[in-house]
Amino acid sequence: MSAAGTQRYYHQPVLVRQALEALVVRPGGWYIDATLGEGGHASLILDASVPEGRLLGIDADPEALETAGRRLEAMRPGAALLVHGNLSHIGAIARDHGFAPVDGVLMDLGLSSLQLEGEERGFSFQRDQPLDMRFDDTSGATAAELVNTLAEEDLANLIYRYGEERRSRAIARAIVGRRPLRTTGDLNQAIWEAVGHARGRIHPSTRTYQALRIAVNQELDNLQQGLEGALEVLKPGGRLVVISYHSLEDRLVKECLRQESFGEPPRLRLVQKRVIRPTRDEVERNRRSRSARLRVVERL
Ligand SMILES: C[S@@+](CC[C@H](N)C(=O)[O-])C[C@H]1O[C@@H](n2cnc3c(N)ncnc32)[C@H](O)[C@@H]1O
Repeated sequence: MSAAGTQRYYHQPVLVRQALEALVVRPGGWYIDATLGEGGHASLILDASVPEGRLLGIDADPEALETAGRRLEAMRPGAALLVHGNLSHIGAIARDHGFAPVDGVLMDLGLSSLQLEGEERGFSFQRDQPLDMRFDDTSGATAAELVNTLAEEDLANLIYRYGEERRSRAIARAIVGRRPLRTTGDLNQAIWEAVGHARGRIHPSTRTYQALRIAVNQELDNLQQGLEGALEVLKPGGRLVVISYHSLEDRLVKECLRQESFGEPPRLRLVQKRVIRPTRDEVERNRRSRSARLRVVERL
């Protein structure tokens, strides 16, 4: 599967069978993919909802929308409506476009391969690129602005809180000592100066990159608002499926969904009490799936 006119491969969607089963996609159903990415899950939802099914796709990244748009339009012309926006505004976006109430909402959080491998995005510590890290490169502060302007203590707290990085203070000190940082290469140098090259199972830059990406994109606040908004737009019996990739995200999702299912009156039913993980086979085929966790609830 290469993108139209290029040799580039699409992002490989994770937990596909599990996500479609959890959403209970049916012919004629209306769905929202609030993190459209390259449209991998969305194309399967459209496929499973023929002939009348409709999909609203939302993404903060204009480039992702363009790629997914070409793909979905070629597949089922007119069946998908794509909107540039943040999932935190899912309620307003859905209502403005006549997509409320719906049968299901999918959120497949985090990054797509398009972003990780993009030339100018700065998401990967394995490439030397400008320190950007915004999903939406049309607005907001970049990672470079954060690392070059935050006070050392605030930077350390950010790296600790969002990266769960024990060496956050040493890393923040090294970053401040190397200012101004412009590229991922500059950031890697600072991290390595603080913690060394090889350290345990994960790459020494992993946690700091995660922390900066979460902060730049205000991921946790947006997710909290997005979950609340999704519950507003689901029909009774409609399903919300969330795939997360790190423990901070998953904890937030679990907590929010539990509260709503044990509230007075409860607004949700937990369809699966336990989180759904990829099979060993999927992890072997697609390493990116190894940290994926899927949770599913039904609107009462
Ligand atoms: C893992 S990818 C989705 C991949 C997609 N399921 C597929 O199969 O191609 C996550 C996407 O969510 C988008 N995203 C992340 N946080 C977002 C937010 N708060 N609002 C809107 N889009 C967001 C990213 O820009 C990225 O394109």
